[in-house]
Amino acid sequence: MAGNVSVEIVDQKSFAGVVADEIVASITDSIHDHGRCLIALCGGGTPSNIYRLLARPPRVSDIEWDKVHIFWGDERWVPADHNRSNFRMTQETLLSHINIPAKNIHPVDTSLASAKKSAQVYEEEIRKTAGIKDKEIPVFDLVLLGLGEDGHTASLFPGSKAIAGEKKGVIACAVKHPDGDESRVTLAPGVLFSARQILFLVKGEGKSEILKKTLEGEEKVAEIPAQLYRKVSDNVTWFVDSAAATQLEAV
Ligand code: 6PG
Repeated sequence: MAGNVSVEIVDQKSFAGVVADEIVASITDSIHDHGRCLIALCGGGTPSNIYRLLARPPRVSDIEWDKVHIFWGDERWVPADHNRSNFRMTQETLLSHINIPAKNIHPVDTSLASAKKSAQVYEEEIRKTAGIKDKEIPVFDLVLLGLGEDGHTASLFPGSKAIAGEKKGVIACAVKHPDGDESRVTLAPGVLFSARQILFLVKGEGKSEILKKTLEGEEKVAEIPAQLYRKVSDNVTWFVDSAAATQLEAV
């Protein structure tokens, strides 16, 4: 295992509940510490059951939602009501079930003329909410990240120019999915990995090989962008279910 990263292996049945409890604790700590929590959620399929648990008793009333600002680590360049939209998934599993002020929900606006324009507007929204000036980097209190079978995280794909050519002060950027057709907006690596707490959420047998390479393999960040965690492993916890952990050395 690279660095002193923390890896929590959880049985499949308990995975969503254990992660939901960690998220509640993290949000609560942030609010106690400085009065609010800026969170960047992840998309894809892994978090949906976790978001459902956060949206209902007992956890839903454990969070002071009016002190939480919700962003996304990345978004697919599709309309907000599209079935591939991370915003739509979060709306269905969490946002439409909780009492959170609309002004605290900050989706990527995918109705604008281009993904590049959306990234610029998203960047401004983040600066305004975080209360930072140009060239400063926002510090999210909590960032949730998934792991793709190709080693991507958020929309930082293998070979991504968002990693190789990361410019100082960039908060969000427009990228293309390696398959070529779908545009994405993603938070820049420097933002994702500056968070006070970063939780990677990985479940399923299909992730076992890439998880082993990411955590135990040779460092090749250009090929396995999720290995960016190694720069900041103190703030990172990997929550993996028993199926995804099958190839890991004894942890
Ligand atoms: C996305 C996510 C992406 C996801 C991984 C894992 O928009 O798809 O940000 O990085 O977290 O691809 O996806 P699953 O949870 O569906 O396996």
